[in-house]
Amino acid sequence: MNAIKNIKGTHDILPGEVCKWQELEKIVRNICCQFGYHEIRTPVFEETRLFSRTVGEDTDIVSKEMYTWEDRDGKSLTLRPELTASVARSYIQHNLNVKAQVQRLYYIGALFRRERPQKGRQRQFHQFGVEAFGSNNPEQDAEIIGIAWRILSVCDLNAETTLHINSIGSEECRNKYRIALKKYLNPLKNDLSDISKKRLETNPLRILDTKIEKEIDILENAPNISEFYSNNDKTHFEQLKKFLKSLRIPYTINNRLVRGLDYYTNTVFEFISDEVGSQNALIGGGRYDDLVESMGGKTTPGIGFAAGMERFIIAMDKTGRIFKQPKPDVYFICLDEISIKTMISISMKIREIGFTVISDPLRRSLKSQLRDANRLKATFALILGETEIERGTLCLKDLKSGSQEEILQSEILKYFNSLQT
Ligand code: HAM
Repeated sequence: MNAIKNIKGTHDILPGEVCKWQELEKIVRNICCQFGYHEIRTPVFEETRLFSRTVGEDTDIVSKEMYTWEDRDGKSLTLRPELTASVARSYIQHNLNVKAQVQRLYYIGALFRRERPQKGRQRQFHQFGVEAFGSNNPEQDAEIIGIAWRILSVCDLNAETTLHINSIGSEECRNKYRIALKKYLNPLKNDLSDISKKRLETNPLRILDTKIEKEIDILENAPNISEFYSNNDKTHFEQLKKFLKSLRIPYTINNRLVRGLDYYTNTVFEFISDEVGSQNALIGGGRYDDLVESMGGKTTPGIGFAAGMERFIIAMDKTGRIFKQPKPDVYFICLDEISIKTMISISMKIREIGFTVISDPLRRSLKSQLRDANRLKATFALILGETEIERGTLCLKDLKSGSQEEILQSEILKYFNSLQT
């Protein structure tokens, strides 16, 4: 059989890299906890219609990127391409609104989109994210953006990251804007790409997202969504800007920012990094006040964001961050077979009081084991041979200073305990 490899667009996170992921996850958990958010874990696959109805049939995600299959009972299932819809489904299904008027949730997990793989863009990727259900006030928007900003700061990424914000207004505002945008673009239709021509009919706002130079030029004189805001839309956005100023979070207003998912209302935002190449959106999010109702739940406003963890790690690496690799406290060396039994039982006792102990299951020479201990950057070596067994002792070697001493086996826990105080 030919060697089997991982699927294109997926990655193995090897032991040397895992410490980066663990550090990022720890930062995310700590900060979410500081803001009173609780973790939620939902299944990696769901009914296809959950995503097609909420993210939107015309979006790239639903129209070409989902991993969808027909299950044996004929039901259409999909590997989750995003988590907001799953979290909203769970929120409705388990009546989380009854448990608390404001539900503050966060998640960390794998997602699947069949995109063209490149640096920072994978087919299986990971996000952390937060969702807050229950409040339509702008202080909730500021809190969500504040969480993202705190996480970026602790990861040392806020200096090279720009927050772009926009309000895409209420449904009514967007309806009026759609008509105005169509009116403006229709006479210029022949200069648009095929995809934008199609979008002009199905979802003209998505044209604002274009990366094509010619279309960007055409949009230069297009009407601006801010001209169509209702008083409520305007007040909400103004208050949010005020709150962001008081949080000292710098932002740029980008009226072209519409985001690639259909459930958004009013506030949308992205944190863009200069450090991660063309896939430069580290975080994307926004308000989705109609989502829960559209899924059959009670009218419930909501807002959240999700961040690409691969992109975070690329950016954190670029800052030169040193990630701590776990090192063993003790490398336990046996010089002969008769010491193994004692080593196994003492090792377990040292672990029980909180230290990391490893030993060599290959029964290699003292020299090889010491070399291995140094390679792993162990703090101590404990050496046990026939002489020590006879004397009821252990040889304790400090691998940094090279000094060594003989300690009674009955005193070894006391010794390690004293290191903890
Ligand atoms: P999104 O903009 O589709 O939003 O994704 C959020 C972030 O996930 C992106 O900014 C990017 O960092 C990362 N990401 C997306 N696709 C990939 C990929 N193929 N490979 C690597 N990273 C990727 C959402 O998913 C919304 N659910 C966010 C949200 C939460 N809105 C409200 N609440």
